Amino acid sequence: MSNPPIILDDGIDRMSDFISQARHKPGFALPAYFYQSSLVYQNELSAIFLKSWIYAGHVSELPNPGDFQQVEFGSDSFIVVRDKQGELHALANVCRHRGARVCEEKAGNCKTFVCPYHCWTYNMDGSLRAARHMEALEGFDRADYGLKKVKLCEFEGLIFINCNPDAPDFSGPLANIRPQLAGYNLPQAKIALKRTYSFDSNWKFCLENYLECYHCATAHPAYAKLHTFEDRACNVQEQLDALWARSEKVTGIEGLIKEHRRIFNNAEAFGACISAHRYGLYEGNQTGSMDGKPVAPLMGSFEDFDGGAGDFQIGPLTYMLNYPDHCVLYRFLPRGLHETEMELVWFVRGDAEEGKDYKLDRLTDLWHRTTLEDAYIISRNAEGVHSKLFEPGPFHPEFESILQQFNAWYLAALADIPD
Ligand code: FES
Ligand SMILES: [Fe+2]
Repeated sequence: MSNPPIILDDGIDRMSDFISQARHKPGFALPAYFYQSSLVYQNELSAIFLKSWIYAGHVSELPNPGDFQQVEFGSDSFIVVRDKQGELHALANVCRHRGARVCEEKAGNCKTFVCPYHCWTYNMDGSLRAARHMEALEGFDRADYGLKKVKLCEFEGLIFINCNPDAPDFSGPLANIRPQLAGYNLPQAKIALKRTYSFDSNWKFCLENYLECYHCATAHPAYAKLHTFEDRACNVQEQLDALWARSEKVTGIEGLIKEHRRIFNNAEAFGACISAHRYGLYEGNQTGSMDGKPVAPLMGSFEDFDGGAGDFQIGPLTYMLNYPDHCVLYRFLPRGLHETEMELVWFVRGDAEEGKDYKLDRLTDLWHRTTLEDAYIISRNAEGVHSKLFEPGPFHPEFESILQQFNAWYLAALADIPD
């Protein structure tokens, strides 16, 4: 991609002007400024990413005491770790002495975190265990210098963190989607593959692309052949009604089709978006695979394929598309103004064996392909928006309605930043 423009005369006043102008044009895409301003990006990190519930891993990745893995976004790193007692913690990866990162490996198992700089040593729960020669400092108390903790919430085997110490409990909002999610038995599920896709585009291009399916029919031929979501609801209503009528009976899961939508400004708390709805596959298809045929054993308590898929949003940056035989999770995180990482995680039934019960390429082909197609259109989108001639156009009222909700929430969050 050609280099995006650099804004030289940026400042709080300019950002405020753009926010208020964009808030007055709610049915339109965001102006290019929001994708180019380093000031905006820094404020997004503090106003959105450090205040939202973010997926940080699955319990199967941290089964034993001492298991840990890092989650990184912006310029921050966090360690999710299981302590000796089996309890999970989320810790800021920043030494309380002079700030070096204490954990270097992305994932692993250890008994302590030893800072590579002056060797301060931390327990798995973040408490400071040893600080070399610090007895020389009168009044120094190790209890005052544990690694900073961030909030952690485990739900259905999924681990979420939130850096806002005042963030309300996430388990209340999450309880609304337990009936729709529990049937997959995610706590016992296995990660068949976790793959990070890197985009050299601003995170909003990537997330916005996920939030609408206006592009699906044209950009994703394999997806569009299977999923009724590529069409307007009024054109596929009959199929949706038929799905909803049979789904719970066929799968044996009560509450599977219950719809719940509390996202963005309508969420129960900031950054605690929750939604679930079940939509249909075109007739004859059972799951999200290249040929619509099963790719793995049925998950959890599913008794059969219902020809549907569960569409979930958990927090503003994490999404799931769950078929009866596998689940796919997406997480969007920024690594720079023009750098985004999208993590895809494919879950299968916990006792499924690769090669015997599922083949990895068949399991992952559809969404790997679809993601590469997205990578192409996302980079085309970014290139066009960075043109001096770009002018934001109107959203489609149905296909892009969630983008309107996202924009309203996003702009309100940025506008809230104190001067
Ligand atoms: S910065 Fe970690 S011990 Fe000094
Ligand atoms: Fe897409």
